[in-house]
Order: sequence, then C-alpha cells, then structure tokens
Amino acid sequence: MKPHRRVFVVGGAHTNYIGKFHPDFIWKKHPDFGTRDNPTLEQSLHKAIRDAFAATGIDGAQVDKGYVGNFVGELFVNQGHLGAMVVGADSGLHRKPFARTEAACASGGIAVLGCVDAIQAGYDVTLACGAEIQTTVNARTGADYLARAAHYATEREIDEFTFPALFARRAKAYKAATGTTAEDISHVVVKAYENGNKNPFAHMRAVKTNLDKVNESAFFIANEELHEHLRLADCSQVSDGASAMILASEAGLEKLGIKQSDCTELLSYGHATSPLGQVEDLTRLDNAAAAVEVAYRDAGMTAADMQVAEVHDCFSITELMMYEAAGFAPFGGAAALAKDGATTLDGRIPVNTGGGLMSFGHPVGATGVKQLLEIHRQMKGQCGDYQLAKLPNVGLTVNMGGDDRTTVVTIQRNIG
Ligand code: CAA
Repeated sequence: MKPHRRVFVVGGAHTNYIGKFHPDFIWKKHPDFGTRDNPTLEQSLHKAIRDAFAATGIDGAQVDKGYVGNFVGELFVNQGHLGAMVVGADSGLHRKPFARTEAACASGGIAVLGCVDAIQAGYDVTLACGAEIQTTVNARTGADYLARAAHYATEREIDEFTFPALFARRAKAYKAATGTTAEDISHVVVKAYENGNKNPFAHMRAVKTNLDKVNESAFFIANEELHEHLRLADCSQVSDGASAMILASEAGLEKLGIKQSDCTELLSYGHATSPLGQVEDLTRLDNAAAAVEVAYRDAGMTAADMQVAEVHDCFSITELMMYEAAGFAPFGGAAALAKDGATTLDGRIPVNTGGGLMSFGHPVGATGVKQLLEIHRQMKGQCGDYQLAKLPNVGLTVNMGGDDRTTVVTIQRNIG
C-alpha cells in the first residue's frame, strides 16, 4: 500500500526492555527485592507515551487518534481494554479515539498500520504504541500463553515450549534443505548480543556471548525429533517493555510546527495474513515474502535499495529466513550473509542494529512499533554507541505474528 496522504514518523521513545538477566529486573536474588517492583503494563505504556511526547515536543491534546498493540494482557496481567488505559497517560488524550490491536507478535505493527490508515482517512496526528509484560509467570506458563499465537487446538501439543518447537521444526527442515549448520546460525546470535551490548534500552545489554558459548548452549525442547534443533541461545527474550511513536500527515506537521526534515517518511507497507496452523513450506517465510513484495512494489524499490533493516528474529533461524524473505540473500544463502558480516553494524545491510528480539528483547506487543522507531532513530543519528557510521536513507521493517501467519512490512526513507 502506498499512502495517498504522506505519512511521517515524527519520533518516539522506548522504555528499557527488561526481564531475566537485566540488571534492573527485580527477582528474588536482586538487592532491591521487596523494596520495589518491576514496572506494570500501565506504568510502561504511560512512560513510553510521555517520553515520546517529550522527545517530539508535542502533547496529548495535539493527538487525534491512536492504537496500542498488545497480545495477551488478559493472561499475563489480567488486563484488557488497553485503548482506555493508554489515554490515562495524558489528560489531553481523554475522549480521543483509541483502541487496541491484536495480531500476536505483529500486534505492534498492526497498531502502526492503524495509524497509517487513520491518516489516509483524514486524521493528522496519531500515536502508535505497544507493550507487553510477560515476566509475571515462569517460562513454561508463558510458553502456554504465547501458544495462543499458534493454532492452539492442533499445534499446542508439539511441545510445552510451543513456539520454540515450531521454529525448531523450521530449523530442522531448513538445515536439511540448505546444508546450513547450527554453527552457521550461531553468527546471528553473536551479532545480536554485540549490538545489544551497545544499546542502553536492551534487555540483554549486560550479557556477553561469543561463538563458543552459543555453540555450547543447552538444548531444552522435550520433543525428541526437534530437541537438537534449537538452543537456549537461539531464542528471543521474555521481556517487559513498551514503545510509542508519533505519526503525522503533512498537515499534521504544519499544525505541530515540525519540519519534514526532522522526520522520516513511511513510503509503503505490506500486510499479509495466512491461515493458522497451515504452514506450507517449513523452509521459507512465504507470508513475510508476500508482504515484502507488496511493500517493495509500492515503494518502487528492491532489496538492493535497503540500507538498514529490522526483521523479526524471534529465533535465530527466523532471522536467517527473514534475509531470504526480504531478498537480501537467495534461498540457502542467508548463513553466508551472516558469516560474511554483511548484516553487522559496519556491513553492507545492517540488520537489527539495537540487538533485535534476541538481545534488545521482545515485549511482544511493543516489537512492531519498536522496529519503525529504530529505523527512524538510525536515520536521525540517535542511536549512540550502535549508530551506523553513515546515516541510512532507506530502511525496511518486517514484523511477524505467529509462525509466519501475519506479517507487517514497512519501508521508510530519511528526509534530511
Ligand atoms: N541446561 C539444560 N537445560 C536447561 C538449561 C541448561 N543450562 N537452562 C534451562 N534449561 C531448560 C530446562 O528444561 C528448563 O526448564 P525446567 O528447569 O523447568 O526443567 C527450561 O530450559 C526453561 O528454563 P528456564 O525456566 O530457566 O527458562 P528461562 O526463563 O531462562 O527462559 C527460554 C529461556 C525458555 C528460552 C525463554 O527465554 C523463552 O521462552 N524464549 C522464547 C520466547 C518466545 O517464544 N517468544 C515468542 C516468539 S514467537 C513470535 O515472535 C511470534 C508470535 O506471534 C508468538
């Protein structure tokens, strides 16, 4: 979809993404245990929104409409109806039209598209945000909650850790079809942690790794056929956090007094959906590829035009398969791209510069919003220690829900 009314990303903010292994995450052995708690869903959302307003110099009264991405607030924190929670962040938002979007791990991407479509319908200033709190239960219970993103009736039983097992199934098939090895895949993990170590918002910012550690990481899936195809180190994090971002039309920028040159522009988007539980080819992310194709077509661009990308690395194998769905590598060629360093901060096409889902973290409903904001921040030189040496002009995001069932793809360009 190519917007007929231009859409500008004005800016935004992330909370810290936190969870197990983050220095600020409260757990029973933390020195602050008993004296303070981890941020709630409401606190996280409100902080991200207020910080987004501070970063862009606007306030709630100037926002016309908005969406909040969240997957399973009802399960992790007993809370739904998040549109009404979001407007509590600022009295200027009261009585404004806000609602939640849900599409599993693509909930945040759908919140962004809600704002883009609102701008096409005539609204001028919109707020896209997203959040998830997941650390209220242990990893096994959390895996059951997240399994609602699969076809629960037929796929839940693949393993107690349903999503890790679904992607172990893909890793097994992909390795067999392409000759890619677990050691090849490890390069993606090392890159994620190296980038995350430079990112003050990252869940795993304090955790160092290297190829040897990743190669020795434990297998944990009980399903015997899949056990050896996914390691703990291959997984994205169970994170808490929120991100918020302002999107506006040309008229909106005029009302806000913000120059186009301070913004990035969303040139096109693709949004594809495939039936739950009906993966046709385990070795390819076909749904993502379909959304990418639409986004490239409508931007009049190809993979070769991309200078930075945020792709959905819910597992290390997913990042490799995303390189192929995005056209960065031919089928079976993704591991070579990773091993050559082409996707590192100083590579030809840097991917997941802040650490991706594996190291920046994956508070599910926030991830799709975070991806666009990360491209914006790279284009505006706001990424500190993980800033690319040359500001990128064009960037891609790919946000995925479930086992490649819902995909949101955007293409952004810098205006400077
Ligand atoms: N050696 C051997 N086994 C080990 C181990 C070790 N060093 N460490 C852990 N394990 C095994 C154990 O079996 C352990 O369970 P028990 O102790 O209860 O037997 C199991 O792994 C889990 O260990 P923890 O409870 O310590 O797990 P953790 O809190 O460190 O979490 C993780 C690790 C399970 C990998 C967790 O990070 C995780 O689940 N990550 C993936 C999150 C996820 O699936 N997100 C969704 C992605 S899918 C997507 O994005 C699309 C969508 O729409 C959902």
